[in-house]
Amino acid sequence: MPTQAERARAAAERLGGWTGGEFCPDGVPLSELVARYGTPCYLYHGGVALAQLARVRAAVGPDVEIAYSIKANPSLGLCQLLTRAGAGAEVASAGELHLALAAGVDPARIVFAGPGKTDDELRRAVRAGIFAVNVESLGELERLGEIAEQEGRDVGVGLRINPAKPLLGSHMRMGGRPTQFGMDEDDLEKAVAAVQSRPHLILRGVHVYTATQVFDADPLVEHCDYVFDLACRAADVAGRPLEMVDLGGGFGVPYFEHLADFDLERFGHGLRSLLAQRRADPRLARARVILELGRYLVAEAGVYLTRVVDVKRVRGKTFVVTDGGMNHHISATGNWGQVFRKPYPILNLSASPDGAAEPVDLAGPCCTPLDLFGTDIALAPPRPGDVLGVFYSGAYGYSASSLRFLSHPEPAEVLLWQGAAHLLRPGGQPEDVLAGQTGLPAE
Ligand SMILES: Cc1ncc(COP(=O)(O)O)c(C=O)c1O
Repeated sequence: MPTQAERARAAAERLGGWTGGEFCPDGVPLSELVARYGTPCYLYHGGVALAQLARVRAAVGPDVEIAYSIKANPSLGLCQLLTRAGAGAEVASAGELHLALAAGVDPARIVFAGPGKTDDELRRAVRAGIFAVNVESLGELERLGEIAEQEGRDVGVGLRINPAKPLLGSHMRMGGRPTQFGMDEDDLEKAVAAVQSRPHLILRGVHVYTATQVFDADPLVEHCDYVFDLACRAADVAGRPLEMVDLGGGFGVPYFEHLADFDLERFGHGLRSLLAQRRADPRLARARVILELGRYLVAEAGVYLTRVVDVKRVRGKTFVVTDGGMNHHISATGNWGQVFRKPYPILNLSASPDGAAEPVDLAGPCCTPLDLFGTDIALAPPRPGDVLGVFYSGAYGYSASSLRFLSHPEPAEVLLWQGAAHLLRPGGQPEDVLAGQTGLPAE
């Protein structure tokens, strides 16, 4: 298994590596990027995200559609690139739906999952004419039926099922046990009947998403087989073939040293064999088979740049303090209530990648001991002013963080695409602390 230092080096090489001793993601010198956009800053490498999409496609074959899960990274530019490369979208809010449409995703390629969809969100989905609202409860189904009637429009429905069988080999389970996601498998028949009793609801099929950070390919293939069984049950009750089987996804990204890469080829091979059998069943012969992927497509395409502000010895340890931390990248630091920190691969990009490393504790600027990227991280000795790169940062970074915590300016987001840098979102200013606040009237 590679060490985190080896993973960091490989991730940096994947983003473009070094030219003339300088880190040049997608060929653009780091010094140019930080001069233009400042630090902290998120860089996303469009080519790396697209290469990952192409890898997944090659593994699972053309019979499976890929929907990009926008929650992983709702940057418009990145969504546009993935859309232009043929990905659909999985959205989880009216905001993400708005973004998907703005990015040019064909509504017929959009599915909408997530518990707690409001009437307004359901109405927007109906009006947008998306392929399927993946409903999470019988109550949501009722509300969707009423809204579709009020709107006088048909709407496609996927039934999000919480299966009786857990998906083993995953690191965060959202199904196969009591959770707020989806409806009980036992309610499947009732739900199909409820869809059919409403004139404007069209049954597309079933949706099962039960886990993220899945590393074992074989249990995931077994899970897909189980989802196909559920789909057949739904088709039997409906008395007609299904139009959709949404298999979820949850392919893992190895943030921890002890984790091996997800075996994409093994999964792809398993899914293709499964499909070869399942397509012979008239209930599934024409169903669109969808995988929803977020993290796996974009995590390795991103790097978070942060600058060293201070280096000090405290009670026998070297602390390096940076200008950004949990406020911008809570997935890479300690997190409220979380037991384990993910040790993201990190490099000192201002030093030679071949130089000697020393263990340091790396902290962000927020006033809590949780704001640590890690302890005893092997880094080329950082000096104030150096720029550090936190790799695997393309997913659940900017949008998952508590950006307003401590009122530091927000980081810029930049897309590297075909050797050029495109500013997606400018970095903030300290004065932004007042943005949107009204306060009391003047005395
Ligand atoms: C319904 C659904 N689909 C897709 C995803 C994306 O998961 P990942 O980023 O692990 O691919 C999630 C993540 O929570 C989800 O809840």
